[in-house]
Amino acid sequence: MNQRLVSADLIKEDIDQISLRPKYLSEYIGQTHVKEMMAIFIKAALSRNESLDHVLLYGPPGLGKTTLANIVANEIGVNIKVTSGPSIERSGDLAVLLTSLEPGDILFIDEIHRLPRVVEEVLYPAMEDFAIDLIVGRDQTSKSIRVDLPPFTLIGATTRFGDLTAPLRERFGVVHKLEYYEQEALEQICARTAKIYATSMSPESIVEVARRSRGTPRITNRLFRRVRDFADVLNDGIIDIEIAQLALNKLQIDAIGLDQKDHDYLNGLIELYGGGPVGVESLASSISEEVTTIEDVYEPFLLKLGFIQRTPRGRVATERAYKHLKKVYQGGLF
Ligand code: ADE
Repeated sequence: MNQRLVSADLIKEDIDQISLRPKYLSEYIGQTHVKEMMAIFIKAALSRNESLDHVLLYGPPGLGKTTLANIVANEIGVNIKVTSGPSIERSGDLAVLLTSLEPGDILFIDEIHRLPRVVEEVLYPAMEDFAIDLIVGRDQTSKSIRVDLPPFTLIGATTRFGDLTAPLRERFGVVHKLEYYEQEALEQICARTAKIYATSMSPESIVEVARRSRGTPRITNRLFRRVRDFADVLNDGIIDIEIAQLALNKLQIDAIGLDQKDHDYLNGLIELYGGGPVGVESLASSISEEVTTIEDVYEPFLLKLGFIQRTPRGRVATERAYKHLKKVYQGGLF
C-alpha cells in the first residue's frame, strides 16, 4: 500500500472514531443553567473527595442527557457504566452492576422510568445507604444479607419525568430538565460538527440547518450529514444555502423544522378531528403512531411552539398551527 492510501485510510478511521460528543463541560454548547449548576456540584464533590450526589436528567430525546452523563464522568475522572431501564430485567442484573463499581464511579441508567419495580426497589438502599440486600438460599432457609457498595453516583435519564415513582424521584439530590436549544446554540453545534468532519459550510447554510433542527442537537447532526451527502453528490462537496435548502426540502423538513410525522399529527388533528379536542389514543391510531412516541417526541416541541394545547378533554390545535399549515382557523369552538 502506498503512503497516500495509508494516510487517507488513517484519516477516515480517525474521523469515524472521533465522537461528535463533547467530552468536557467547556465543549458542551447550550443548556447554560444546567452546565453552571453541574460545574459547581462537580467541583464541590471533588474538593471534598466525595462522590457526586445522584443526578436525574429529564427532557425530550436528543438534547444531550447521555452526553452530559459522560461529561460528568470525564470531569470527575471516574468510570461510567451505561445501561437502561428495560435492559435490567431482574434484581440480580442490577446487583451485578452495582457490585462491580469502583468508589466514585458513575452508573448511568437511561430510560430509568422503565425499570421493573422489583429492580427499582434494589436501587433504594443502594442510592441511600450504598448497600443492597441480597436474598441467599431458598424457602425456609433463605435469609437476607446486606452487602456494602462503594460510594457511587447514579445518573438517571428519562423522557417521562411524570412516570417516575415518588420514592425513586425523591432519592435524586440533583434534578435537571434539559430544554430545547436556542437557534444560536444549534448554529454553534452545527459549525462544530462541520469542523470535526473537516467540511466547510457557508454561514447561511449553518443558520438553515440550525433553524430546521427542532431545537435538538441530535437532529442538527443528522441534518448536517444528509446535507453533506447532497453536497458531495450534487455540488462538488460545497455546502451553500442552495444545496442545504434543496436537501432539507427533499427530506421534507419544513422551514421551522417540522417533519412529516409532525405534519401527520397536525393534519390529523385538524382534518380528522376539527382541531380537537381529541384524546391522544384516537389521534395516535389515526396516524399509526405509538402513544408514547407522540407524547415524548412530537408533542413537546409542538407545545413549545404553541401549536397545540393539552386540555382535560384532549389535544387541541391552536390558531398558530392553522396559520403555519395555511389552513383557515374557525375560532376556538371547543
Ligand atoms: N453535539 C451534540 N450536542 C452538543 C452540545 N450540547 N454541545 C456541543 N456539541 C454537541
